[in-house]
Amino acid sequence: MTEPVRVGVVGMGTVGSGVVRLLVESADHIERHAGRRIVVERAVVKDVAKARSVPVPGGKISSDIRDISRDPSISVAALLVGGLEPARSMMIELLENGKDVVTANKALLAEHGPELFELARKHGRSIAFEAAVAGGIPIVAAIGECLAANRIESIRGILNGTSNFILTRMEEDGANYADVLKLAQQKGFAEADPSMDVDGTDATQKLAILAHLAFGVWVPWAEIPRTGIEGLDLDLLNYAGELGYRIRLVAVASRSDGKLAMRVAPALVKIGTPLAETRGAYNAVSIVGDAVGRMFFHGLGAGQMPTASAVVADIIDTVVGRAAITFRTTGLLAADSPAAKLADVDSHERHFLRINVSDRPGVLAKITGLLGDHGISIASVIQHAETASADAGVPLVIMTHACASSAVQKAVAAIDKSDVIRGKSVCLGVLDE
Ligand code: HSE
Repeated sequence: MTEPVRVGVVGMGTVGSGVVRLLVESADHIERHAGRRIVVERAVVKDVAKARSVPVPGGKISSDIRDISRDPSISVAALLVGGLEPARSMMIELLENGKDVVTANKALLAEHGPELFELARKHGRSIAFEAAVAGGIPIVAAIGECLAANRIESIRGILNGTSNFILTRMEEDGANYADVLKLAQQKGFAEADPSMDVDGTDATQKLAILAHLAFGVWVPWAEIPRTGIEGLDLDLLNYAGELGYRIRLVAVASRSDGKLAMRVAPALVKIGTPLAETRGAYNAVSIVGDAVGRMFFHGLGAGQMPTASAVVADIIDTVVGRAAITFRTTGLLAADSPAAKLADVDSHERHFLRINVSDRPGVLAKITGLLGDHGISIASVIQHAETASADAGVPLVIMTHACASSAVQKAVAAIDKSDVIRGKSVCLGVLDE
């Protein structure tokens, strides 16, 4: 009988526990796909004394990475620790000791990917990372393998489950931002440091990885313009709803004239379109390839079992040998990947503005005048009768016709300097298709 493949699991948090559960509970099914039995040999965790909802088979659990890296019976390690350190040192220790690695850690790949992939190549090992982007959606395989015949023209997606969960709970139940963020943490959607979810860092790191797969270039994630959802509030979501839109944190990468335009920012998406209907911890990715046309992927992008699904698929790929072939034959995250030429993001689209103004005669004329001075034409305006005192400020909501985002930003800067303003304006792009 063929010997089983022994896997070491590093980290038994939300995802690690899910991976152990899946490997144990679906062992027969997984064996059929892998051609061999896959067993969890050991888990390495930070705190051995912590109570675990999922037991490690055989009870082999310890806190020293070398218990996995130096165990010759273990050939594959699932590195399911978040953040940069000790994850980076652990990955190096595993690769240098001959383990193939599967990981869900996108921050590690976005920050140190080329260095770690180089090391893996040097040691003849592979790193598989389907779970690092969009949880259970097989988007890494889709772009890297299934759509490999295409020149990808654009990627647009919702890549952070936590922020999407927050936005949809707020718009559907009127829930409070801080309460829903807490709930997202309890449900295991959020990063250990949830500010990375809500400030757009997580989605931007994922976009950098997808852009590498799609366009073959390496984009330092911190260079991608990024705005999170922290500046949003329930009123904004309600005004967007009144106009027939929802607000989503949208990641975009599109190619034109040899340059890439990339950004992560909240945007209005029309109710009824796939991005607007992406709710809760779901993620969505829309890709346009020159041969295949537009494709849409939708599925749970965060949470224990969807992410474990992707990790275990990668373990199977590694065991079968597919991960090694991909790794050997493609320049995946190679240190000499060309750097991306990032275009200035100056999209031509409609814009949604919320401006807090004092409720006095002539104010609307002043604001529309400033917009007009910058060549911006107004499509609609909402101002509800308010009970608050005129001087405390009332929200004026404006939808523009399509115009350059650079022009709107200049107009908003001028508006925010004017004496009728009571608070900083919000300006969001509108994705109409
Ligand atoms: N914190 C991430 C999210 C988990 O909310 O999408 C999956 O990467």
